[in-house]
Amino acid sequence: MHAMLKQEAEDGQTTLADPNFRADVLNGLSLNPRAIPARWFYDRRGSELFEAITELPEYYPTRTETALLERISPELGALAAPDAAVVEFGSGSSTKTPILLRAIQPAAYVPIDISGDFLRQSARALSADFPGLPVYPVEADFLRPVPLPTEVASLPKLGFFPGSTIGNMQAFHAVDLLRAMRAWLGEGARLLIGMDRVKSPDVLVPAYDDAQGVTAAFNLNLLERINRELDGTIPVDAFRHRAIWNADAARIEMHLEAQRDLAFTVDGRAFHMTAGESIHTENSHKYGPNGARMLLRAGGWTPIREWTDPEEWFTLILCEAQTLRRAP
Ligand code: AVJ
Repeated sequence: MHAMLKQEAEDGQTTLADPNFRADVLNGLSLNPRAIPARWFYDRRGSELFEAITELPEYYPTRTETALLERISPELGALAAPDAAVVEFGSGSSTKTPILLRAIQPAAYVPIDISGDFLRQSARALSADFPGLPVYPVEADFLRPVPLPTEVASLPKLGFFPGSTIGNMQAFHAVDLLRAMRAWLGEGARLLIGMDRVKSPDVLVPAYDDAQGVTAAFNLNLLERINRELDGTIPVDAFRHRAIWNADAARIEMHLEAQRDLAFTVDGRAFHMTAGESIHTENSHKYGPNGARMLLRAGGWTPIREWTDPEEWFTLILCEAQTLRRAP
């Protein structure tokens, strides 16, 4: 079957392969070194595997951020506008959201996620827990312009960007995204953002290479997704998951390493890899306190409060949209 045709999803529904996915995969496999953007991890299976990652003993970020959010929730109510709309970027299963919603009691909630059915399912679950709260799910890749629902146009916005998702981007792109968010959320907006801290590789590496192999399955699912959706013939068993700490760039990198010379096709195009060659699939940048603040300022956001756990493994930073002034 050609990838231009419809493909049968796991749930028996028929979906068209995303043309952006095809373009990113075909271009990425032709690069040297080969690289595919991390956002393509999150098909239904990938989103489920990511949920499983967040429960792993080695994967500290979710647990640490959730505990931190619980700890500061009494303070949060006073820090958002009374009739704010909460706009969450990359909401996934929205597990941290109830803590925030209970604390600030917003006028509306707008979850944005790239994984549509996953988004709608979690939006339904959330609506059940918060009757009376208007929920407007938006299926979108927030790396492109996001149309906010007209229902929230006149409300003051609180952006919520937890999970250190910003860490997936290099500073150059992170700044672009932060500036875009500032434009979407508008004048007077606030942003509560979670950022993962630089720490010992003894903690970082196992968090991305767990004993049970869930992160490996998450990484390898990208190849399975390519086979499923783009008519690929990648021999998935011939690849190995790798997680490395790149100290110079202050980031964890995930790679898929070919264990032997191999050949495959994707959407009819032929690719060859030699043993030891890899596909770079993710960056997860970590920040020190000054780096985090600098990045936010460069993106048009002024940090006004920040909180960290006792081990200083993770930070939540509340920012305010900068009003641009030319004077020093
Ligand atoms: C969702 C991007 C924050 O970088 O920690 C987890 C993704 N990748 N394990 C992260 C991820 C492998 C995660 N983010």
